[in-house]
Amino acid sequence: MTTRREFLGGLGGGAIAAFLPRPILAQQVARPLQMPPLLDATASGRFQLAAQSGQTDFLGRSASETWGFNQAFLGPTVRIASGSTVQAEVENHLRDAISVHWHGLVAPGEVDGGPHQPVAPGDRWTPVLPVSQPAATIWYHSHIHGQTAPQVHKGLAGVMQISDGRDGERGLPSDYGIDDLTIVLQDRRFDRAGRMDYALSMPDRMMGFLGDTMVVNGQIGATAEVPKGIVRLRLLNGSNSRIYDLSMSDGRPIHLIATDSGLLDRPIELDNLTIATGERYEILVDFSDGADVSLLSQQSMNTGMMGGMMGGRQASGPPFEVLPFAVRADLPARITALPDDLGGSRPSLDPAGATRRGVTLDMGMGPGMMMRQNGDRFAINGRPFDMTRTDFKVGLGHTEHWSISANMMMHPFHVHGVKFQVLSENGRAPRPQNTGWKDTILIDGQAEILMQFDQPASEALPFMFHCHILEHEDGGMMGQFSVS
Ligand code: C2O
Ligand code: CU
Ligand code: CU
Repeated sequence: MTTRREFLGGLGGGAIAAFLPRPILAQQVARPLQMPPLLDATASGRFQLAAQSGQTDFLGRSASETWGFNQAFLGPTVRIASGSTVQAEVENHLRDAISVHWHGLVAPGEVDGGPHQPVAPGDRWTPVLPVSQPAATIWYHSHIHGQTAPQVHKGLAGVMQISDGRDGERGLPSDYGIDDLTIVLQDRRFDRAGRMDYALSMPDRMMGFLGDTMVVNGQIGATAEVPKGIVRLRLLNGSNSRIYDLSMSDGRPIHLIATDSGLLDRPIELDNLTIATGERYEILVDFSDGADVSLLSQQSMNTGMMGGMMGGRQASGPPFEVLPFAVRADLPARITALPDDLGGSRPSLDPAGATRRGVTLDMGMGPGMMMRQNGDRFAINGRPFDMTRTDFKVGLGHTEHWSISANMMMHPFHVHGVKFQVLSENGRAPRPQNTGWKDTILIDGQAEILMQFDQPASEALPFMFHCHILEHEDGGMMGQFSVS
């Protein structure tokens, strides 16, 4: 158990990435955590996202220019129905080209929204999304090559729920913002005036941007108010690079119910949960004892062997507070027992006949590394991303077995247009949190994944595979493939 006093005690010493235990806000009032607005498209089968700029005053001192969808920072939670076809409409009111990639949607390349599908300033993009997969928490974000990191940092991201309307039968909390909370985890830095700052240091360029202030759903220092019962947290790590290792401050268990691509068969009880950029996990936490607790994270600097060279980041401090909870007896506690059958599944694909492929996530470390342009610094299998090169072709309906290795540090690896099974991590059975369907996996050494490609993608509009540390992705740690 970590007390607030221990947090304060552990702060000292000028490490660049140390977190303040609680940020210093202009008005020190307890503020309840707000959810992103819910944009429920399950009945209408259509939704609209308008990328726009706005002003956000995070610290109560001065406004930052931020970007969002339909609002100043981040976007609404878009709920779409499993088994339906949805008309999306994206408008770009910004002065830069953006794109909207549906991260986790298993759909054809022609609606994927990756770097080959920019929406120019003033333009509209109106893809029809076939939603054939089961219930899941996915997300959307801009994906312009070379601009994904700054654009997501500015706010071009949001959560999406694929819903089948059957959470009641499953005994799962589903009351949006009451017992079913959307939690977008991000870290940011602010300048002296209190404005959001994305000036990259050399360590940021090498290892990915790290902030020193926790921002949840675009808010700093907010408290999530929860009923005295079981609450579902749909967690998205929407940070540029930070990896969180989450646990509850009093050690109470986290019950994992869903991984990136949907529900498990049954909950998995965990003490801690690692969530890398791009990953989503849904968990249940039992607040029925009425005690106020917090969600904490370990520092998890992800410096690999570079920690020493890169000064400052090797700091492994005490855990920091991600989100405090306050139990409110007046909120309806609808769910008070853990469900045992979630109705989801664990993947068990047939590896027979799978095409084998090796993927190495490379960071150039030769002499002169610091001087090189980003494009030469990061690569996959030795080759930096090239929009005009198809790295390989996959047969439609085929199963592939990829061996992925991470060089120098941990890299969260994501594949578009598919969900996969994790066969092993470093030669051992996958960690419990990786036993469900995934579309992003933190590679800490080496992992083997198995996936069946049932969505087509042309060479003109291919699927991406990449590191989800956004500065690595923009710097060239990405490749593309077609499926036909
Ligand atoms: Cu979350 Cu290729 O993206
Ligand atoms: Cu994606
Ligand atoms: Cu990486």
